[in-house]
Amino acid sequence: MSETVSARGNDESDFVTRVPLPPPQLDALSRDIVDLKRKLNAIVLAHNYQVPEIQDVADFVGDSLGLSQQAAKTKAEVIVFCGVHFMAETAKILNPGKIVLLPDKDAGCSLEESCPAEKLRALQATNPNFYTVTYINCSAEVKALSDVICTSGNAVKIVNASPPGRDLLFVPDENLGAWVMEQTGRKMTLWQGNCYAHVEFTHAGVMRARREFPDAPLVAHPECTRAVRLLAGEVCSTEKMVDYCKRSPAPAFLIATEAGMIHRLRKECPGKRFIPVPVAQCRCNECKFMKMNTLEKIYDCMARLSPRVELSREIMEGARRPIERMLAISSQPLANAG
Ligand code: 13P
Ligand code: SF4
Repeated sequence: MSETVSARGNDESDFVTRVPLPPPQLDALSRDIVDLKRKLNAIVLAHNYQVPEIQDVADFVGDSLGLSQQAAKTKAEVIVFCGVHFMAETAKILNPGKIVLLPDKDAGCSLEESCPAEKLRALQATNPNFYTVTYINCSAEVKALSDVICTSGNAVKIVNASPPGRDLLFVPDENLGAWVMEQTGRKMTLWQGNCYAHVEFTHAGVMRARREFPDAPLVAHPECTRAVRLLAGEVCSTEKMVDYCKRSPAPAFLIATEAGMIHRLRKECPGKRFIPVPVAQCRCNECKFMKMNTLEKIYDCMARLSPRVELSREIMEGARRPIERMLAISSQPLANAG
């Protein structure tokens, strides 16, 4: 599949982080996938971190919130989820009767791994007044133990809408949780988990990029550490990065999130420059889980209708309630949600 490089080019090819497949091969595979979509009545949902050729073949590309909203309303019979495990599970929970395919069944998430259900259950047992607000990056079993789910795109709104008399427990991302506390002023107990890819961004890395591009505002994902967030002009979900960069008059931006985001930003904001913040020696901070998906695996999973996401009815019922609560709060106008 594509090869990762850390080269620096000019203009449009600034900071190329991936070498795409050769066009003829790409076109043939993409066309076959489009044919299969029609035959199966399938929808392809892709996260913003997927490689360009996957984003380009998808029916919808977005953040976790947008993807779960699309999954909740789709009429397609088959959902091909180009993202990671917890995202495909969420689509299945919202569509128990449909086939949900994940091109690589091992595409996990370090946040999901950090929070096993039995450990969360044990912590919840220490305080009956806990109200558990859970970041969507977790297993279906953990969702079933939660009062409400949130994504990076709506976490502030969800916490503002949480019952005032309850003790908030925020799991599993300590960095997103800390940022939400700063934004809402609401004290929360934080689970000690983090995204292994986003904590790679450092204050020194941002300053290195800033020396080259002193006027470019930093746009950072809230999974970054506080040292990075404090330097940012905007902290937001991947989808809100697109809105922010479109609206901002700035011609260039430093981006502190997974490298796949750069393709989406370049596509949506032609003429603007997006500079990935360097980590260690390269500018290719990729999520190894997100990058497990390939066009070939998408084609294969559609041809074989496998691997499918399968969950027990009990877990799906338990997990659906807090996800639907999130979707309901998210669709309310801001004034009624707080
Ligand atoms: P977004 O919901 O902002 O796209 O984030 C998902 C994610 O996994 C970030 O690492
Ligand atoms: Fe999980 Fe981090 Fe990958 Fe997002 S980037 S899926 S939080 S490991």
